[in-house]
Amino acid sequence: MDRPNDPQRMERIVSLCKRRGFIFQGSEIYGGLNGVWDYGPLGVELKRNLKDYWWRVMVRERDDVVGMDGAILTHRAVLKASGHEDTFSDPMSTCRQCKRLVRADQVEEAVLETPYAKSLESVFNNGKFNGAAILRWAEREGRKLAPNMAIVRNPQVTLSWLAEHFEEASAPLVEFEDFIRYLATEQLNVTGLVMPCPNCGGDLTEARPFNLMFSTQMGASADTESIAYLRPETAQSIFVQFKNVLDTARKKLPFGIAQIGKAFRNEINPRNYIFRSREFEQMELEYFCRPEHGMELLDYWLEERLKFYENIGLPRTKLHVLTVPDADRAFYSKGTYDIEYEFPFGLQELEGVAYRTDYDLTQHQAASGKSLDYFDEDTKARFIPHVIEPSAGVDRTVLALICEAYDEETVTDEKGKSENRIVLRFHPRVAPVKAGIFPLLKNQPPLVEKAREVQALLRPLMNVFYDETGAIGRRYRRQDEAGTPFGITIDFETLGERDPGLRDTVTLRHRDSMEQERVKISELAARLSGAIA
Ligand code: GAP
Repeated sequence: MDRPNDPQRMERIVSLCKRRGFIFQGSEIYGGLNGVWDYGPLGVELKRNLKDYWWRVMVRERDDVVGMDGAILTHRAVLKASGHEDTFSDPMSTCRQCKRLVRADQVEEAVLETPYAKSLESVFNNGKFNGAAILRWAEREGRKLAPNMAIVRNPQVTLSWLAEHFEEASAPLVEFEDFIRYLATEQLNVTGLVMPCPNCGGDLTEARPFNLMFSTQMGASADTESIAYLRPETAQSIFVQFKNVLDTARKKLPFGIAQIGKAFRNEINPRNYIFRSREFEQMELEYFCRPEHGMELLDYWLEERLKFYENIGLPRTKLHVLTVPDADRAFYSKGTYDIEYEFPFGLQELEGVAYRTDYDLTQHQAASGKSLDYFDEDTKARFIPHVIEPSAGVDRTVLALICEAYDEETVTDEKGKSENRIVLRFHPRVAPVKAGIFPLLKNQPPLVEKAREVQALLRPLMNVFYDETGAIGRRYRRQDEAGTPFGITIDFETLGERDPGLRDTVTLRHRDSMEQERVKISELAARLSGAIA
């Protein structure tokens, strides 16, 4: 079940999320808006619990961090100074035939997932040349699956390159990726080997930078002066407000400013469900420090962040730390870690922990002409602080929580009947609903009344769900699928009908073990509050 690259598991998770009201496609009834998602009743609770826990441990439980909530609309000058206007881009190619846009650095990955690549696997012949089979493929499957691929449009010329390759005694075999490149290349001497369009197999243009920021017009006049951006990260408003926060919060280094909020990126290929979206939320901390403490604080924050993920139910064994190599780091960063999680579609980034040096504050000081330095009262020195930035994605973490929690098992009831149980094993801290409250029978007013009393008792403390419809087993299953850690059943024992000693006790059912115990109503609040803290 836990293997990476498990598309069936991912499909089941996506289907559960829709069926149970966690996540819906944005603007769904109008055909959907690509890369945009809406959270339903359970999803919004899960997301809120995650953000609240982050805020609690990153801000409220610390003396050295304060929070802020910056605007989404951002002055163009801010994102010019930060470098986003000039360099926040992905390389993009366009298909000359179908006009589809593709990320040039992800073409190979995308091509290998296409139906035409899958169908070519049988023609590949372990890298040994079989011209007849290739031509047959071009005539049949190729026409349907990759109509604009060179081998389909111009089979003889295209095949000749591959045949030539096989005549060279030194290169008798090809790798599968190169096999596809040969089939997509019409003018080898001019273009070299090329990767085809993942959509139609056609020719891709040279890669060009495509800026990922969404811009908008402020006010009535639509000229370049009125351009504003939807922020591509929450971090920049923290840097821009650094001085205001420093002056008002009266903090000394090291200290941090935290923010949770929306960010927008016009991703070329939004993919993997909510993993890469065009509208998403970030939880970012900018932790300002003296330059000499930068590297040690980078490691400190990495460890803090790993503990955070463990505390919400993502085991350390599923988290990987990638030390970003020098060549892949932003030029101003002295060290960056990516925290990755084993999603069903592979190991992917959840959060970056980066030592950004004094780059951002220096840039904004230079561009705005306003001082963003720090005055050290002990040494009387002025300097621009350095910054460590743990930057996490809310939506990616929500997805990791759902993927980690999803489980299916076969259970046997007391009558010996087996059934498949789908259960989301969320950590109680993040579970959308903490307890289901069930009167055993809905047509028994004393049971219903007592259940309503229990609901009123717990409601101010946690999110509970009252359900009186259907057999009790079905009600338990519905809450298992929602990831509710506790079920509270009000039955005839609660009324003290058979044993007065059991009056005002309930059945407390545990989601994961399905074990049940008798608990006094008066003890419920403390028991459950302790478990979800
Ligand atoms: N301020 C630094 C920054 O924004 P980033 O690596 O571009 O760094 C930080 O983004 C985190 O934001 C990522 O690790 C990821 O969790 C989340 N994120 C970035 N782009 C995203 C997208 N298109 N969809 C969902 N989450 C995204």
